[in-house]
Amino acid sequence: MYKAAVLPGDGIGIEIIPEAVKVLEAAGKKYGFSFEFTEGLVGGAALDATGVPLPDETLELCNNSEAILLGAVGGPKWDTLPVHLRPEAASLLRLRKELDLYANLRFVKLYPALIDSSPLKREVVEGIEIVIIREATGGLYFGEKKREKTEDGERAVDTLVYNTWEIERIGRLAFEMAEKHPSKHLTSVDKHNVLESSRLWRDVMTGLAKEYPHIEMESIYVDNCAMQLIRDPKQFSIMVTENMFGDILTDEASMLTGSIGMLASASIGGRVAMYEPAHGTAPDIAGQKKANPLAMILSAAHMLRYSFDHEDAAVSIEKAVEEVLDEGYRTPDLMSEGMTLANTVEMGDLVASKV
Ligand code: IPM
Ligand code: MG
Repeated sequence: MYKAAVLPGDGIGIEIIPEAVKVLEAAGKKYGFSFEFTEGLVGGAALDATGVPLPDETLELCNNSEAILLGAVGGPKWDTLPVHLRPEAASLLRLRKELDLYANLRFVKLYPALIDSSPLKREVVEGIEIVIIREATGGLYFGEKKREKTEDGERAVDTLVYNTWEIERIGRLAFEMAEKHPSKHLTSVDKHNVLESSRLWRDVMTGLAKEYPHIEMESIYVDNCAMQLIRDPKQFSIMVTENMFGDILTDEASMLTGSIGMLASASIGGRVAMYEPAHGTAPDIAGQKKANPLAMILSAAHMLRYSFDHEDAAVSIEKAVEEVLDEGYRTPDLMSEGMTLANTVEMGDLVASKV
């Protein structure tokens, strides 16, 4: 029996979470384990109910769980609130920080059935499988912020700070992952030609590379990286980068898979890991059963892999997703001619029954 916290949050988060729970229960039945799921309030939903986006009770629930499933947080209703109340910063980012989830692993994998769903040519994306490791508790997101009046308007300041130890721990994790990967290749992304924090980043990564002589580490600039991801994404296997660059590059990279609704992630590093799709709350389609639950379901598969060491069960979920896609079922984000339209719940049911 595994204790998992379940935080649906807002928008489509509420719709995709039950599908992941359903699939996890099916996997448990097959492989002989079960879950005690406890739901917690987070994001705008928590703000509306309790006055804060991350109630102490939710944080405590997370700390007392063995893993966390998170849907998505935020929405237009809360967009104009001051920063200490905004769901994104005050719940999601705070959760990552409080739980020390400094490594956000984002899995960019193209399922063969979706090869024509990517806006890129099939020969460019065929066989793509990249892990982007995004530093998630430092950098621009967490540096000092300021807003002040000036004579002719206002001045706003965000600070990009990295310490050696922060780069070293994410760098080490990246090298360890590259070591387990057949390519033995690691790409470190920075902006060494402009940013001081990137110069420290590159120094630390270059130092670490000496400890891993059999890994081929390449450092590239973030702007070049954005271009290479579209030009020739097959050159990448494991990538590591700072928080903001990772936020932007992973949304870009999601289109190699056909839809951001396919981009699963795992936030690890602390005692309890959190599994969250990389997409947001999609207010435009929320409440209509149009959301693709696969990123959430695939994140749950990673939970079985990383938090509970059930590689077999994780693979069975990934295989089930592959089969359902091979059979032509598609949520609206991936719908094309000749395919069978499935809503959020139907997609979850299909995957669960395959498992
Ligand atoms: C993500 C999201 C978050 C981020 C937002 C919601 C704060 O875009 O997980 O990529 O920027 O980290
Ligand atoms: Mg993002």
